[in-house]
Amino acid sequence: MSARLVIPRPSLVVLCGPAGSGKSTFARRHFPATAIVSSDRCRAMIGDDEANIRVSPQAFELFHFIIELRLRDRRLTVADSTALRAEARRDLEGIAKRYGVPAVLIVFNVSEARALAHNTRRKRRVARPVIEQQWERLQEALQTVHEEGFDRVYILGEDEVGGATIELTPAAGARAATRPPWKRPPRDGRG
Ligand SMILES: Nc1ncnc2c1ncn2[C@@H]1O[C@H](COP(=O)(O)OP(=O)(O)O)[C@@H](O)[C@H]1O
Ligand SMILES: [Mg+2]
Repeated sequence: MSARLVIPRPSLVVLCGPAGSGKSTFARRHFPATAIVSSDRCRAMIGDDEANIRVSPQAFELFHFIIELRLRDRRLTVADSTALRAEARRDLEGIAKRYGVPAVLIVFNVSEARALAHNTRRKRRVARPVIEQQWERLQEALQTVHEEGFDRVYILGEDEVGGATIELTPAAGARAATRPPWKRPPRDGRG
């Protein structure tokens, strides 16, 4: 099955799914590296280890801060975190609203078995009970995500994640851009 995702540019694309659901792989495949802000990466930048949960509060401050700075500059941004708690999604949706860009939620609706299997191939392996709990939170999220204020919500089944295609479209009110920012020549100061 192939799903086609229409993503306004700029927008904040919020990925949502348990560890092992394929979020980071999907992000790398479809978006430029500079557009992806990863909570795991923020944890490593502060605490030297993507698994260092002691620094999670600070890592999420950094995560949100980078996202805000990018959106302030109207740059397409992908928030790569589990976003399985309603509060986490609300924070991200709120940031997008504050900076006047659409928020798009992509939910990785994979089976628990798939998440557990992919977890074993992951760079940072997560404990099995953590994935089981995250998968329960995914079931809760699926009940509410359509009523949380996101401009678009895409729910990808596990057989759709690999074949999904993305179409970038100018956001309403966005400057007409012929080329995405990362393909434009550097500004030379002549405005
Ligand atoms: N579409 C896919 N098809 C096959 N394997 C995948 C796919 N997506 C991810 N994987 C595998 O699963 C592992 C975990 O994926 P990852 O993208 O890191 O998940 P997440 O970021 O959600 O934790 C990766 O190392 C990769 O080997
Ligand atoms: Mg990841």
